[in-house]
Amino acid sequence: MLTAGGDCPGLNAVIRAVVTRTTEVHDSEAVGILNGWEGLMQGRTRALDRDAVRGILQRGGTILGTSRKDPYVHGDGFESVRHTIEANGIDTLVVVGGDGTLRTALRLAGEGLSVIGVPKTIDNDIAGTDVTFGFDTAVEIATEAIDRISTTAEAHNRIMLVEVMGRSKGWIATYAGLAGGADAILIPEVPYDLEEVADVIRGRHRRGRNYSIVVVAEGIDPPPGIEAVEQRDAFGFRRVGGVAYQIAPALEELTGFEARVTVLGHLQRGGTPTAFDRVLATRFGAKAADLAAEGVDGVMVALRGTEMRAVPLEEACADVRGVDPRLYEVARTFFG
Ligand code: F6P
Repeated sequence: MLTAGGDCPGLNAVIRAVVTRTTEVHDSEAVGILNGWEGLMQGRTRALDRDAVRGILQRGGTILGTSRKDPYVHGDGFESVRHTIEANGIDTLVVVGGDGTLRTALRLAGEGLSVIGVPKTIDNDIAGTDVTFGFDTAVEIATEAIDRISTTAEAHNRIMLVEVMGRSKGWIATYAGLAGGADAILIPEVPYDLEEVADVIRGRHRRGRNYSIVVVAEGIDPPPGIEAVEQRDAFGFRRVGGVAYQIAPALEELTGFEARVTVLGHLQRGGTPTAFDRVLATRFGAKAADLAAEGVDGVMVALRGTEMRAVPLEEACADVRGVDPRLYEVARTFFG
């Protein structure tokens, strides 16, 4: 198995589950690939048994390491990983990753590699599953930050902008904004108008509230008149972060209130996973190991309702899942 792309709380719980289920229930062997696709290209592996994965359930990060290297960008596809697969006698490769990693897994499957995907991202934007592990932890961290920021905001009569992760979709912003009682939530799925946001804030202050919280998903477009700076990672994804710094001065000007920005950034990905994420990650890992033992491949494990399912990798890679407009509409009820 390998973990690739950005890390995410719960990766170690998946590793523990895949290894334990494979060795203890299916009487097979597990091998870990170090540093994601890069390790698969370089032949860097580590034997994994029950003892190797004890004590890691609650640890953030990944004991296998990860990277944003890709065999189709930094190698020649299947040919660049074939030697590691053959040298280690790998029947099935369990790939724990987000949309970029899963797309790479799908391409390798097209070239004949037997793969099973496990959906990982704090962004919660992978199609085919109701939720990804890591998301719940990120929402908890962001909500706690909003709660803390609210009290200092109140003391100073300020607008506080809290920028959360979510490169292309606004799941963390919507959930944490809802849970933290945000006065406005800006997400990529819903075009925003700063005049309207300013109106909401002015109305709130007229009614006697002396601070406002605006939650900003990092993936929104900059305000009109400001050029987006395009930077891309190895998977071709936009590098984002800091858009709240462009919004704050505009809101200050429109409302006359001081604005401050907090960018939560990688804080949201670090540290111990919540109990929900530990359980979800464990169920994903156990299901992946069971599917591998049954000889199923070309699928991603998924949570549908309360059930663990296997969905075709094509389905998972066909789309990037956005926030349900009905959920955003509920959050909007409480703006201002
Ligand atoms: O996709 C997960 C994510 O955490 C995004 O929310 C964020 O934009 C990106 O990864 C950051 O990536 P990196 O760790 O490479 O800066």
